[in-house]
Amino acid sequence: MKQAEFKKRRALLMKRIGKGNIAIIASAAQQTRNRDVHYPYRQDSDFYYLTGFNEAESLAAFIPGREQGEYVLFCREFDEKKALWEGAHAGLEGATLHYEADDSFPIDDLDDILPGMLENKGKVFYPMGKDSELDHKLLDWINHIRKQSRSGVTAPGELVSLEHVLHEMRLFKSPEELKLMRRAAEVSARAHVRAMQACRPGMYEYEVEAELIHEFIRDGLRAVAYPSIVAGGKNACVLHYIENKDKLHKDDLLLIDAGVECDHYAADITRTFPVSGKFSEPQKLLYQLVLDAQAAALEQIQPGITWNKAHEASVDVLTKGLVELGLLKGRVKKLIKDEKYKQFYMHRIGHWLGMDVHDVGDYKIKDEWRILEPGMVLTVEPGLYVPADCEKVDKQWRGIGIRIEDDVLVTKNGYEILTHAVPKSIADIEALMQGG
Ligand code: GLY
Ligand code: MN
Ligand code: MN
Repeated sequence: MKQAEFKKRRALLMKRIGKGNIAIIASAAQQTRNRDVHYPYRQDSDFYYLTGFNEAESLAAFIPGREQGEYVLFCREFDEKKALWEGAHAGLEGATLHYEADDSFPIDDLDDILPGMLENKGKVFYPMGKDSELDHKLLDWINHIRKQSRSGVTAPGELVSLEHVLHEMRLFKSPEELKLMRRAAEVSARAHVRAMQACRPGMYEYEVEAELIHEFIRDGLRAVAYPSIVAGGKNACVLHYIENKDKLHKDDLLLIDAGVECDHYAADITRTFPVSGKFSEPQKLLYQLVLDAQAAALEQIQPGITWNKAHEASVDVLTKGLVELGLLKGRVKKLIKDEKYKQFYMHRIGHWLGMDVHDVGDYKIKDEWRILEPGMVLTVEPGLYVPADCEKVDKQWRGIGIRIEDDVLVTKNGYEILTHAVPKSIADIEALMQGG
């Protein structure tokens, strides 16, 4: 991502905060795995969105109208020994030179410098309650200023949620963001295709996971957007199954929900296919029903409709189909009203997608479902899950779990699927798996 993009975001944030106020946001902490080994570092999405700065122990302050510079970055000073052991870090000079901070200070001096920046400000925008250390520090700084009130300084009077402002910005993806999301989607799609081609009866779920990882990493994308779900047979009915440890049997379906991150932007794809490369009759019937539900949901997507319409369309198709196949009994309208479909379809149609797989942004505004607008990206992922011990349905349906998930951009005239490169029709899946 180019610096110009981060600069644009900061400019918009400054405008929304307004002069006389300040926003502060801290980096993610480095997480220890054990002793002196850390988990791979993942910057806080909000912090990265505004700074493009990928180091722990940093804090950014945005102070519209500050004469000496509106964007201040606190970070680690450059340390030669640290550079030798752990690699490059920007240091104070790098923060201004490469990350375009107007001013930079050592993070170790935060307590001495930041209170001065809070003096005489009206509102402090910050991620309230997200980081208890920052919560405490901020209150300490404010109290420190209060104690000096006799010398004429005033402490900020209001604490405001920064997320409210920032997450509304993140909900709408710019062309630069979409470039990254498309790449994450393309590489993830290739990984799914590779997994389908590699899958054979007798393999273990983790062996198929290895095929996904191979494709991600050889493209230079080393962070998954979430732990990959590789769930054979009845494991697919456990929505967040990530053990990926069981053997794949020839008569089972395999559900894979996996996506990679590209420069902090996620893809999120699910496909379900037969381990043997050929669907059985009951598998075909349930699979086609989920695919039809996805098509009905997608058909709804366009600017001006409420977020919930796609979900409702999927519920209509699935409930009607479940009655036709005999898994539900009764009148479709009543079954929907009584939410009987929830025994087999217990999640919603999808979620916002962006830097976080379950991305930020409100789904409702003042209790009304949000209206879709161009630039929003969401997943469309209906599913059916029939528990293995579900005695009220015919045996042939038991232990089948199916989800089909694509990433969808709302466009001016409708929608664009970012993840179309993985086959999903029964014919296309069978053709791919049988080497067609
Ligand atoms: N992979 C998580 C989800 O589909 O929501
Ligand atoms: Mn999803
Ligand atoms: Mn998913």
